[in-house]
Amino acid sequence: MLRTRVTAEYGFDVPIVLAPMGFIATPPLVAAVSGAGGLGLIGASPAPPAAFAEMIRLTRSLTPAPFGAGFLVVDTAMGPSTVDEHIAIVTEERLPVVVFHWELPPRAWVDELHRGGTRVWLQAGSVERAREAVALGADAVICQGAEAGGHNRSTTSLLALLPAMVDAIRPTPVIAAGGIADGRTLAAALLLGAGAASLGTRFIASPEANAHAEYKRRIAAAGSGATVFTHLFGPEWPDARIRVLRNRVVDEWRGRDEKTPPQPEPASCIGTTRLGGAEYRMPKFSALLPTPETSGDFDEMCLPAGESVALTSAVTPAAEIVRALADEAESLLRTVATGRSATPTSPD
Ligand SMILES: Cc1cc2nc3c(=O)[nH]c(=O)nc-3n(C[C@H](O)[C@H](O)[C@H](O)COP(=O)(O)O)c2cc1C
Repeated sequence: MLRTRVTAEYGFDVPIVLAPMGFIATPPLVAAVSGAGGLGLIGASPAPPAAFAEMIRLTRSLTPAPFGAGFLVVDTAMGPSTVDEHIAIVTEERLPVVVFHWELPPRAWVDELHRGGTRVWLQAGSVERAREAVALGADAVICQGAEAGGHNRSTTSLLALLPAMVDAIRPTPVIAAGGIADGRTLAAALLLGAGAASLGTRFIASPEANAHAEYKRRIAAAGSGATVFTHLFGPEWPDARIRVLRNRVVDEWRGRDEKTPPQPEPASCIGTTRLGGAEYRMPKFSALLPTPETSGDFDEMCLPAGESVALTSAVTPAAEIVRALADEAESLLRTVATGRSATPTSPD
C-alpha cells in the first residue's frame, strides 16, 4: 500500500485526492474515489447551502468512507460563492477536511472549522500565497502548478513550484495539483515532496463524473497543446484566468481574451443547462461547465481541463483510476528505492 504522512494523518489508504470540481465532483464521483481508498472532495461551489447539505447526505448513502468538500472564495455575479451557512454545515456534519480556492477565506471560518474538528487546506499557486495560507492557519497547502485545469493563477510549473513550496512551508504538508494523471506523474510528485496529489482532469474522464459525455470525449481525445489559459469565459464570474480545452470560440478569440468580452447585441444563447434546479439559458462566453443536463454548441462552451489531458486517453471508472495510479506509482517508487540502496558493484 502506498502510504505517506498525509494518508496516515487523514486516514485514507492511498495519496490520491479528487479535486473539488464545481458541477463535476458530485456524490457518485466523491463516493467512488473515497470508496477506492483515495479522498473524495465534494465540489461545493456554486451550490447553495441546502443543496450542499443534500450532497453530503447523498455521498454518505453511497459510501462509509470519509470525504470532504471544497469551496471557492469569490464574489460572482450571482453573489458570494461561499457563505457562513456552508461553514456551519461542514461543522455540523463533521467533515474531516475542506479546501478553499481562489481568494483566502476569512480567518473566522478557519477558526470555526478548527473548533469543530475540521482540517483546512488552501490551494495556492505561488510560494508567497502558500506562506499566507500557513499564516492563516492552513493545515496543508495544495500546490497548484500552471499545468492545472480550471481557475488557475499560477505562473510556475509544478516541477519547479512544488519543491520550492515544500521547502518554504515545511513542516506543513503540501499536496500537488496539475499535470498528474498516471502512476509516473503521481510518483514524481511524491518524490518532489508532496504528501498526496489532487487530480481534476483525469477524474472528469470517468463514468461517475457529472460532466456531459461530449466534454469527457473531448478530454480523452485531446493531446499535448490542447489546453490554454484564457479570460474569455464569465458573465457569471468575469475576468478570471481558466485553463480550458481549445475549441472554436477559444481559438477565435486568441489574443483578445485578456478580459471577458462584453455580451454581443442582440444577446445570443449558446445552450441551456440547469442551475439551482431551474433551467438556465447560457449566454455567450458562459463559464458554466457542461453537465449531462446541458445541451447546445460545445464549440462555444467553457471546457476546463489541465495539461494532463495528454495522459488521459479513455473514460475509466474512478475506482480503477485510483487503483491503477497507486499501483503504478508504488512499483516505480520501489524501483527507485531499490536502485538507491543497491550495493555498488566493482567493475572487476
Ligand atoms: C473542471 C474543473 C473544475 C474545477 N473546479 C474547482 C473548484 O470548484 N474548486 C477548486 O478548488 N478547484 C477546482 N479546480 C482546480 C483543481 O482544484 C485542480 O487545481 C486541478 O484540477 C489540477 O489539475 P488537473 O485538472 O490537471 O488534475 C477545477 C478544475 C477543473 C479541471
